Amino acid sequence: MSNKNNIKTEITQLRNQIKQWNYEYHVLDVPTVSDEIYDSAYQQLIKLETQYPQFNSNDSPTKTIGSKPNNTLAKIFHQQPMLSLGNAFNYQDLLKFDQQIKKTLGENNIEYVCELKIDGLSISIIYEKGKLKTAATRGDGIAGEDITNNILTIKTIPKIIALTSNFEVRGEIYLSKDEFNHINEKQKQQNLPLFANPRNAAAGTIRQLDINIVKSRKLDAFLYYYINATNDNIKTHDQALLTLQKYGFKINEQWQLCKNIEEVWTYIAKYEKLRNNLPYEIDGIVIKINDLTSYELLGRTNKAPKWAIAYKFPAITSVTKLLDIFPTVGRTGKITYNARLQPVIIAGTTITFATLHNGDYIINRDLRINDLVSVKKAGDIIPEVIAPIITSRQTNNIVFKKASHCPICKTKLEQVPPEVDQYCINIDCPSRILKSLMHFCSRNAMDITGLNEKILLRFLDLKWIKTISDIYNLVNLRKEILSLPGFGEKSFTNLINSIIRSKQNSLERVLFGLGIRHVGQKTAIILAKKYLTLTNLMQATFDDLANTNEIGPTIATSIIDYFLNNTNQQLITNLQNLKLNFNYLHTNQSQALNGKTFVLTGTLTKSRNEISELLSNYGAKITNIISNKTNYLIVGENPGNKLLQARKLNVKIINEEQLQSLLKEVAKNG
Ligand code: IVH
Repeated sequence: MSNKNNIKTEITQLRNQIKQWNYEYHVLDVPTVSDEIYDSAYQQLIKLETQYPQFNSNDSPTKTIGSKPNNTLAKIFHQQPMLSLGNAFNYQDLLKFDQQIKKTLGENNIEYVCELKIDGLSISIIYEKGKLKTAATRGDGIAGEDITNNILTIKTIPKIIALTSNFEVRGEIYLSKDEFNHINEKQKQQNLPLFANPRNAAAGTIRQLDINIVKSRKLDAFLYYYINATNDNIKTHDQALLTLQKYGFKINEQWQLCKNIEEVWTYIAKYEKLRNNLPYEIDGIVIKINDLTSYELLGRTNKAPKWAIAYKFPAITSVTKLLDIFPTVGRTGKITYNARLQPVIIAGTTITFATLHNGDYIINRDLRINDLVSVKKAGDIIPEVIAPIITSRQTNNIVFKKASHCPICKTKLEQVPPEVDQYCINIDCPSRILKSLMHFCSRNAMDITGLNEKILLRFLDLKWIKTISDIYNLVNLRKEILSLPGFGEKSFTNLINSIIRSKQNSLERVLFGLGIRHVGQKTAIILAKKYLTLTNLMQATFDDLANTNEIGPTIATSIIDYFLNNTNQQLITNLQNLKLNFNYLHTNQSQALNGKTFVLTGTLTKSRNEISELLSNYGAKITNIISNKTNYLIVGENPGNKLLQARKLNVKIINEEQLQSLLKEVAKNG
């Protein structure tokens, strides 16, 4: 190629192609070319860039490194291979593992250590004479990449330790969920591709050549493997973990010693539930034999040691076809875009719809109708579309365009930059009204049972309800309601009782139920506690509101605007005439349980939110994990492992009835 323009074009094409492959490999986790093709393109790009330095660019993929073996980082040969782990997917697999071990060791009482399987990248760090000498990635297990400089930026990894003999420790580099979101936020601002998960982001960061980028991202590390610990007279893995901690390494403190495989199973069940509440991602549990002296006897396969196994949680992401994108309107008028998907089973549930959030979310990811997309469903969290699989895209897949008008009432949508959300500003929009009514009746607001979406839609259609206050006039429509199919005396009475009961709710519930923008459940409680009555709140000045702890100017503006609006004023007057309670009802309650922590286990008659609300009136709170700081465990039917732990730690154990007596007692003694 003699022509300079042609060279420039070839370099650009190679860069774009390699970037695309990197994106597929690192971000989507779906490699689409063989190593040979990737490597030959990569080498060709390096050759051209060296020959024609005038076309150099910091943006070239040769300047940032992917996890493919790469010449830019030096190779480090591991002193002993970095192996992988065998996998278990169910209880049977664990039993097999346990039996295999007992067969080899000929023992019955095998102790295991369970640890969280951190979803990051494994690393090896070598210390010589107490000083951090080198750090390497796993690479192919025999040799990894030298990432010493980048590792030095991680504050929780000690650079000097109180051990003079040479020492190697292995562990996992990871990014917290918060930091991952923060990094993606920044990527988005700079129009760079988003990382699909914290592991990909950690991998992209640790191989960064630009140390300033590494420093700007808060990588962290849990260490879990003391190599040759027996040489230092350590006999068990729990001892090794504690020793690592003593040297100043961060270990994951959720580890637990288990006396048998049943206890291992209980540990697994506990963290499968807690997984979404952890600040970092885990993809399973690692189970290791505690007795280090048996490791040699058990040996290894060519890939994994036989003294440990990884229990893998069911995947929470999958790939399916995006069939349609459609907007819906929320109670505040906010437009949410939704994906209709070819049904896909993730972790046992069939997913047909997923949220796409706002229009910018779709545009940033360039999601097109008929694309294959990766979808995530984590626990109770609404399923979400993460990214398209660009390589499988057909040319005629339909490019997304934001809606210009409300899909329901056809009012022109508004979007005020920098807000990413579009709004239907018509407060009479039928969708907004329906959603507001549903919100008002919801469990955490007025808790009116019986008025579900279907019935509300029916009543709206029949014009029996137009606005919130009409709910309280339904009592006058006895004959009409009873004439509807599906309604009988009993369901009518239940409905009306539930409506009447709701009139006595404390102020925070009705405040939350009104659906004032930015006033969520927590804010409603803060406001109710401070102002005690709705009248006080309506008379509050902007400054007084904005200076309230956890409120601030945005919420203050929203509250002032809400009460200035004529329709809202009329609604409040109507509700007052209908004798709804607008006072905070917990005023005479004390802070007698201030700072006390409660943990729940088993099925209780009240919801977690209800108990939390009750306790917060006395200054106490609910936490998830039992520790020696827990004051009470409230036990319901079929309690879990927490009951055992509470007994071990001497935590006071009470049932719901005893909780009621306790609350009565503290209320009396104020
Ligand atoms: S022990 C011989 N413990 O999982 C391998 N690994 O699937 C010893 N991992 O390559 C590894 N958390 O990168 C161990 N607590 C933990 C772990 C853990 C995450 C990773 C590690 C390993 C992979 C195996």
